[in-house]
Amino acid sequence: MPHSYWSKQPKPTEIRRRIEGFGSWIEVDLDAVSNNLVEIRRHTSAEVMPCVKNNAYGHGLLPLAAHFEDNGVKRVLVAKTREAIQIRENTGLRAVNMDPLWTAEQYEAAVAKGVTQVVYMIEAAERLSRAALKLGKTAEVFVKVDTGLRRVGVWHEEAPDIIKRIVAFPRIHLDGIMSTLMQNSEQDRRQIGRFKAVADEMRSSGVDPGLLSLASTDATLNNPAAHLDLVRPGMSLYGVYPESKDVASGPKLRQALSWKARIEYVKIISRGDSVTYWGKFVAPENMPVGTVHVGFYDGVPREMANKARILVDGQYRSSIGSISLNHILLDLRGVDAKQGDVVELIGRTGENTLSRFAETAGWMTYSVLNHLNSHTPRVYTRDGEPVALLEE
Ligand SMILES: Cc1ncc(COP(=O)(O)O)c(C=O)c1O
Repeated sequence: MPHSYWSKQPKPTEIRRRIEGFGSWIEVDLDAVSNNLVEIRRHTSAEVMPCVKNNAYGHGLLPLAAHFEDNGVKRVLVAKTREAIQIRENTGLRAVNMDPLWTAEQYEAAVAKGVTQVVYMIEAAERLSRAALKLGKTAEVFVKVDTGLRRVGVWHEEAPDIIKRIVAFPRIHLDGIMSTLMQNSEQDRRQIGRFKAVADEMRSSGVDPGLLSLASTDATLNNPAAHLDLVRPGMSLYGVYPESKDVASGPKLRQALSWKARIEYVKIISRGDSVTYWGKFVAPENMPVGTVHVGFYDGVPREMANKARILVDGQYRSSIGSISLNHILLDLRGVDAKQGDVVELIGRTGENTLSRFAETAGWMTYSVLNHLNSHTPRVYTRDGEPVALLEE
């Protein structure tokens, strides 16, 4: 049975009608996401826990979570408690939450909603246990082990002892242990060894470590020794190879996201005219210029002054001048474009794919996706048909 999320959505004709009124919107091809999940599953025998943190890397949290659940996913990874609770309230997925909790209310809400909390300090486990006792529930936990990244986590040498103490608290259930790799082959090898040693030592003292998880996209694609029980890719499930070397790793990924906008205004400017702040573009001839109602508020990097590649009338044209908070300008020489026409800022092929867009800006693809404004409407398609609309 498909997730109930879809049955609450407007009909395709209604979604199309609503799009007519959008100045810019993001489209997410759910078939591409399914393809990427199939490709990753073909590449590993580990369980796949999609990383849906930060609004599913800009793709929209609940539609992606519902879609993953439809495709047999059991757990997802988030970095904000608010997102963990949204997932628990709207899906049957386990939500592994990396956000630290601060107040008694937060500990109780996490336990009440059945969030699987990432912990690495005794005190946090004790507070979860106390909340679980009060609510008559069990607190699910993942323990984060620091095997060398030196960001957060219990240091691997102390981990077996600390985890034993964590699981000894009443009403704490250990779902698994996780660590994050440095994505450097020599370091990763050492980290895998340290992580497995923690699990072995726990087992030999009679404590089940649960699921073992190390791999994000990089190790999922390139390092089978790190797959263990549970891989937790993000970027690859959205169809983006983080680095060009990853293309040869096996899975045939398809980018899911594209970003469209309408031309707000078209005019002819004269040779020698400059456009927008600081005059970073001066017209070499009389030329048509389009203004599009998106800017760095929406997630266009300011570094794209004079160089974003935008698809208009089937051809790529450059942005001209600086990127404003809510506007970009577009060179319309040689194309047929008028007010209201749809242009593509991020496409799924060609000169403005996510990877090329990020490269043009000098940003990482991670930064581009994580800066897409959550207020931009998201339209979800299956077989090319719009099936859901997310407006915040
Ligand atoms: C702990 C952890 N695991 C997995 C991921 C997914 O990473 P990627 O998008 O590279 O697959 C992230 C994302 O930053 C993360 O923080």
